[in-house]
Amino acid sequence: MTPRRATITAIGHYVPEKVLSNKELEKMVDTNDEWIRSRTGIRERRILAQGATSDLAVKAIEKVLEFRGINATEIEVIIVATVTPDMFFPATACIIQDKIGAHNAWGFDLSAACSGFLYALTTGAKLVESGTYSKVLVVGADKMSSIVDYKDRNTCILFGDGAGAVLLEPSDDPGYGVLDNRLYTDGSGGAYLYMKGGGSLHPATHETVDKRMHYIYQDGKAVFKVAVIGMAEVASEIMQRNNLKGDDVAWLVPHQANLRIIDATADRMGISRDKVMINIDKYGNTTAATIPLCLSEWWECGKLKRGQNIVLAAFGAGYTWGASLVKWSLANPAKS
Ligand SMILES: CC(C)(COP(=O)(O)OP(=O)(O)OC[C@H]1O[C@@H](n2cnc3c(N)ncnc32)[C@H](O)[C@@H]1OP(=O)(O)O)[C@@H](O)C(=O)NCCC(=O)NCCS
Repeated sequence: MTPRRATITAIGHYVPEKVLSNKELEKMVDTNDEWIRSRTGIRERRILAQGATSDLAVKAIEKVLEFRGINATEIEVIIVATVTPDMFFPATACIIQDKIGAHNAWGFDLSAACSGFLYALTTGAKLVESGTYSKVLVVGADKMSSIVDYKDRNTCILFGDGAGAVLLEPSDDPGYGVLDNRLYTDGSGGAYLYMKGGGSLHPATHETVDKRMHYIYQDGKAVFKVAVIGMAEVASEIMQRNNLKGDDVAWLVPHQANLRIIDATADRMGISRDKVMINIDKYGNTTAATIPLCLSEWWECGKLKRGQNIVLAAFGAGYTWGASLVKWSLANPAKS
């Protein structure tokens, strides 16, 4: 029997209008535009002035539904990858379900930081492949500005807010869609990138606030080293498993944490820079949103063609990392 395959049948993204430039950050912490650009590749990032992660997600989902021409009531499952849920509970997926009126959907949040979208894509694809569900929304959304310490120059330059969403449905041709996934976790990396306060270990108190424990902490150097190796290895692994050489891959979609990590990953995969999706300069690191945000922008510009092999790769807190291989099946918006 031919296996049932999940494919992306609609995609959308949203970034808030407010821009936070490197120049503006110069007024907030001891940093400068030249340092930020040369060490990270970031020029500016977007900030959601009002509202929550669900608001970012809803705007991305509305584009998905509009393009696909379906009502939200047809959605069966909503998976939301985020580290900045609107609140601890209920899940942001529940809040989104209500806001978009997806009354027939169940859903849940998934916490895998910068690898969150790939964890969610894999989970969503398996739900479709199982034959049980035919319309699964996979969302990557983060309002990073809600957990960034704008007094810490090590981290505040890196992050921005944004959301991306895809609709997964059964593929009409099993040769197309989400073909393969590899996901990894190494919990011993937890000490290098975390937000300590607010959970059951350190519930919010005056002391946790005073100690600035409700913000992102990162040992950038330590994370940088493992991120380069992890992302390059898992991306190469997915190519080898599917007998792909650099020339066979049309696009690499790397998580956008640092331009130097992206370049190193592409080099190790034998993929030239012109085949790497990069928008870190405009948005910084939007955590779970980076990959669908890239995919959606490139698709909107008509750069994705049916049959292209696209490798998605990410590395993030946990540590978590992974890669997916997608054979693109969605016609670009101009043609449809
Ligand atoms: C955060 C990161 C950009 C820092 O770059 P780096 O080259 O490692 O820089 P370092 O942390 O070694 O700092 C070098 C110097 O610049 C300084 N510096 C740090 N942030 C600065 C800033 N915003 N502006 C100016 N100087 C800064 C440091 O204090 C240090 O000064 P010192 O040598 O006098 O101590 C980089 O480590 C990184 O991208 N890490 C991984 C991020 C990632 O992938 N995360 C996973 C997914 S979220």
